[in-house]
Amino acid sequence: MQTALTTRIVDPTAIEEAAERLRAGGLVAFPTETVYGLGADAANPRAVAGIYEAKGRPSFNPLIAHVADLAAARRIARFDSRALTLAEAFWPGPLTLVLPKETNCPVSDLATAGLDTVAIRVPDHPVAHALLAAFGGAVVAPSANISGHVSPTTAAHVKADLDGRIDMILDGGPVEVGVESTIVGCFEHPMLLRPGGLPREAIEQVLGMALTRPPEEPESDASQPLAPGMLASHYAPRTRVRLMVEDVKPGETLLAFGPAALPGIAHARAVMNLSESSDLGEAAANLFGYLRALDAIAVDSGAIGIAVMPVPGHGLGEAINDRLRRAAV
Ligand code: TXA
Ligand code: MG
Repeated sequence: MQTALTTRIVDPTAIEEAAERLRAGGLVAFPTETVYGLGADAANPRAVAGIYEAKGRPSFNPLIAHVADLAAARRIARFDSRALTLAEAFWPGPLTLVLPKETNCPVSDLATAGLDTVAIRVPDHPVAHALLAAFGGAVVAPSANISGHVSPTTAAHVKADLDGRIDMILDGGPVEVGVESTIVGCFEHPMLLRPGGLPREAIEQVLGMALTRPPEEPESDASQPLAPGMLASHYAPRTRVRLMVEDVKPGETLLAFGPAALPGIAHARAVMNLSESSDLGEAAANLFGYLRALDAIAVDSGAIGIAVMPVPGHGLGEAINDRLRRAAV
């Protein structure tokens, strides 16, 4: 395949061309408010297979179907009153709902890994919206990275991983949220399948009830996992990641949060601060880019790994800590 075409979104003809490539079974990376997605026509199993191929992704991982609005989502899945409440409160936005498939659900079985449920979201990003509206149907899109790498928050990250493996990259600049969507399973009791860009507290407030967690997080070999994005090694950088540090060991780089005056910091190979003012939103937006950058520095300079300061667990901190734990596996 030819080298991926990267195009600035200021050009509306790029949206039409991207929609055309999707219709032809191609792969198009596009920005959302959470992370960049690698999109394919959800109804075209060969195109969906191309996603797994390009990412080198284990084929049991089901994908999220992205649509332009709630009306399009209702052609794909059955919404009960709770699901409708959540969709109306938070779409467009960083919330994915796992719902029973509608009869004649157009999303291919390959994309849902044979489950009778489907994950859907309406992204809150002008480029994603324009693309989905121009395309018309559902676009399945995992994060646009090689499987196991950190998720891309800029078009350059996408290019670094997938150049030459996909048809096109729509460049919408850096994303706003920086961690993936929160995934809620709309089961008998709503379940938090993956913490993400929408804080759990906001969802629980709208529902008027607490979300449950899956009984046990699936480990590396679950064949029908509830949310296999929870695979332990999903977000691993190449170098060792040490969490909750209180000092910097010789040869480490530092991922800081808030005021950073740790013993040993003067000897750190590199320091990047997720948010000097301890703002969790800013930290989420910086998370994957900084992990990537520190990982690259560590690999190039022979550093022994990345030391990570503690990040509070409330609000967006729940998702940040979840991703950090996976990076540390
Ligand atoms: O923010 C996001 O959600 C990004 C952007 C591109 O939209 N997408 C993303 O996709 O993070 P991905 O493929 O990296 O993660 C999808 C997650 C996986 O954990 C997968 O297992 C879960 O969604 N999932 C998909 N369908 C499911 C289903 N029917 N039941 C349970 N989990 C499902
Ligand atoms: Mg991913």
